[in-house]
Amino acid sequence: MSDKLAIHGGEPVRTRPFTSGNKVGKEELKELIDVIDSGAMNRWGGTKVVAFEEEFGAIHGAQHAIASTSGTAAIHIGVGMVNPSPGDEIITGPITDIGSIVPILYQGAIPIFAECDAETLNMDPADIEAKISDRTVAIMAIHLFGNPCDMDAIMDIAARHDLPVIEDCSQAHLSEHDGRLVGTIGDIGCFSLQQSKHITCGDGGITITNNEEYGIRGRLFMDKGWHRAQYGPRVYEVFGPNYRMNDLSGAVAVAQTRKLRDIIALRRARGDLLCELLADNPHVRPQRLLDGCKHTYWQFGMRVEDDAPFAPEDFAKALVAEGVSCGAHYIGRPIFLCHEAVRNQRLFGDSRYPFDRGREGIVYDDSTCPRTQHVLDRMVQPVCPTQFMPEEDIHDIGRAIRKVSEGLG
Ligand SMILES: Cc1ncc(COP(=O)(O)O)c(C=O)c1O
Repeated sequence: MSDKLAIHGGEPVRTRPFTSGNKVGKEELKELIDVIDSGAMNRWGGTKVVAFEEEFGAIHGAQHAIASTSGTAAIHIGVGMVNPSPGDEIITGPITDIGSIVPILYQGAIPIFAECDAETLNMDPADIEAKISDRTVAIMAIHLFGNPCDMDAIMDIAARHDLPVIEDCSQAHLSEHDGRLVGTIGDIGCFSLQQSKHITCGDGGITITNNEEYGIRGRLFMDKGWHRAQYGPRVYEVFGPNYRMNDLSGAVAVAQTRKLRDIIALRRARGDLLCELLADNPHVRPQRLLDGCKHTYWQFGMRVEDDAPFAPEDFAKALVAEGVSCGAHYIGRPIFLCHEAVRNQRLFGDSRYPFDRGREGIVYDDSTCPRTQHVLDRMVQPVCPTQFMPEEDIHDIGRAIRKVSEGLG
């Protein structure tokens, strides 16, 4: 193979598609058949959602595991556990899916965004602390792409300010920080089972906690606040929506949960191998992993260094020409700039709720997280190693990245 880049007419590193696979199979089908045979498809009366909660909870050593309809729902349940008053603030990260933010706003709280670190691509603990105000009621840490946040620093800040920590683990199933699973380090862990996630039931979510009060409140919040064990006139104990997972989803989710450790072991091995192959790669570096942490590579985040002799878009284009798909800039802008209504703080009719209940002067514009915009501007995401890819595929990805980094340099 010549060193001439494919965009300059050279031979591409890869001409075949990367190996893919079906995330679900006979194990999921068997559980689904049980549900159809039983005719009980609701979580109340069915057995699969309950089994999913028990088994996912057991993996995490969590006393309370509450299944729901999406990662957004799982986070909403987490926010509902904390029960903010209108205008209270939750500090979170600006590089995420809108599903981290919508629950905060629906619950009447205001997201305050901490800057992200250029190397880890995760929230910068120093800026989390700088953003704490007398209205702050929680910190929501987001483990971007499966890379654990600096949880030592975040938990230290939370302890000093007496704040609960919600972990958004939507992209980070079984990621580890000093031997502890993410989602179990803070007070509440929230996971997505949307199609693209490490495990999936099409759409689904789960919220875990070892806090008894949160657990009881969260379970009620998930089911319209209805305390079903009571007899007599109906009593709703908590104000909440219907986020019940149905038993068909539960059937797939429990079968997926039984595969979770194997999926993650393979995915981690493949992702770690790619990091090794890129250890001294010039100009473009993988997301930095903190000491003692284990990544799970939902996506393979990389950063084009500020002094690289090429732009991130040129790198992405050249890599695509080598037969390796590559995105640039992930969500493009901090999440609050991606959503017109959030940016303008006009969410409910023509009111300013909940912003009219909060502190003066909270704005979402280019000045809110300038450092994060720079981080996004330098970010590229080559195709992520998956559990389906043989090592040979990973070597091709590594070769192509190195060829482009060196060739463009
Ligand atoms: C970090 C993060 N948080 C929350 C969500 C929301 O999850 P869901 O799409 O299952 O509602 C996602 C989904 O992409 C996500 O990546």
